Amino acid sequence: MTTRILTGITTTGTPHLGNFAGAIGPAIRASQQPGVDSFYFLADYHALIKCDDPQRIQRSRLEIAATWLAGGLDADKVTFYRQSDIPEIPELTWLLTCVAAKGLLNRAHAYKASVDKNVENGEDPDAGVSMGLFSYPVLMAADILMFNAHKVPVGRDQIQHVEMARDIGQRFNHLFGKGQEYFTLPEAVIEESVATLPGLDGRKMSKSYDNTIPLFSNAKDLKDAISRIVTDSRAPGEAKDPDNAHLFTLYQAFATQNDAQAFRDDLLQGLGWGEAKQRLFQLLDGQLAAPRERYQQLLARPADLEDILLAGAAKARKVATPFLEQLREAVGLRSFRSIAQASAESSKKTVKAARFVSFRDDDGSFRFRLLAADGEQLLLSRSFADGKGAGAVSKQLQQGGAPDIRVEGLSFGLWLEDDEVAKGGLFTDAADRDAAIERLRKALEPVQA
Ligand code: TRP
Repeated sequence: MTTRILTGITTTGTPHLGNFAGAIGPAIRASQQPGVDSFYFLADYHALIKCDDPQRIQRSRLEIAATWLAGGLDADKVTFYRQSDIPEIPELTWLLTCVAAKGLLNRAHAYKASVDKNVENGEDPDAGVSMGLFSYPVLMAADILMFNAHKVPVGRDQIQHVEMARDIGQRFNHLFGKGQEYFTLPEAVIEESVATLPGLDGRKMSKSYDNTIPLFSNAKDLKDAISRIVTDSRAPGEAKDPDNAHLFTLYQAFATQNDAQAFRDDLLQGLGWGEAKQRLFQLLDGQLAAPRERYQQLLARPADLEDILLAGAAKARKVATPFLEQLREAVGLRSFRSIAQASAESSKKTVKAARFVSFRDDDGSFRFRLLAADGEQLLLSRSFADGKGAGAVSKQLQQGGAPDIRVEGLSFGLWLEDDEVAKGGLFTDAADRDAAIERLRKALEPVQA
């Protein structure tokens, strides 16, 4: 079985080294594993929730797309697309919005944080909260459920959203599944080892702390950032404490085990911080130089990036379009054409199910039987002098109104005006007889409709 891995990045900024080490790099490596089918996308609808600067949205989409590809993502192997190129996603968002409990969304961390802050400041609880922010987890659930992802690699702050996607998917399955599971329930995956790459000041590397190391800008920017890494004040020659130096943590995240061990030993031996920074720069620059070059080439040809992403969207929609069709069907948004077809089919089926069979009796007269689908004889007609008479009556039974069925002891007869044209069998008790009458009514019903 293939595992479907899906993740998205909100397009509001330029990826830094922490994003690459913590999310993009591991996702690219995961996509290269056998038995994996990856869906990676630019969450540009999500970006609109946080950012009303069109220039910035556009720039970020371009940069994040180029970062994935420069990092080695094979767009032919994976499905790589922009969220906003898949109209099925907002459509699914609405279907999910209609089953998502408001109470569930009230508990979303991002929304709650805004409310708490407002309350603290004595403002209206929902001040500055858009419906986009409130519904953020539903859009994210649509991203994930649309492609039936098994695994969703995310940062810790997103675990709750993946849980909500499970919750909402499960509710949809329950309401509309009728024994069929529409949605796979996803699981969040946390990249433990690299999720918390430290920034310049030792806190988690994050744009909001302004402590990031640039990824693909240029060697000088990289060097400048590294020179700003905060260290203790131990002088060259003094033993350093690698386990309490985030400079070492950064080095270790990108070095081989042997190189990291050598670096640790040198620090313990009194390697100066200036020298240590130089070595970290060499390590990072060595690894980033080639992808940086590719990145710059990609940015210089935005039309090529457009083509790659549109091809990715077409690939994604091959999955999304038919799946959404099923989901629309599930909730009752169906073509009227299918109603005509369905009833034609069901009456065809019943015609097939119960059939009139005419035959000639031993005495040369003409009769017919009405047989149920399973072959049970529901009626046997009286004798007719000719085939035409028998045919006319059976035809009338197929087209006429409500059948006139009269109980006769433990049997029954079928009447047309004043004529008993057919009889049922003889039953051992009234309940059996009535059940047979019921089957007869059913058998005649759709034929008459
Ligand atoms: N909300 C995620 C973030 O900000 C981005 C995202 C949007 C996402 N849709 C997703 C991640 C679906 C995983 C799966 O990090």
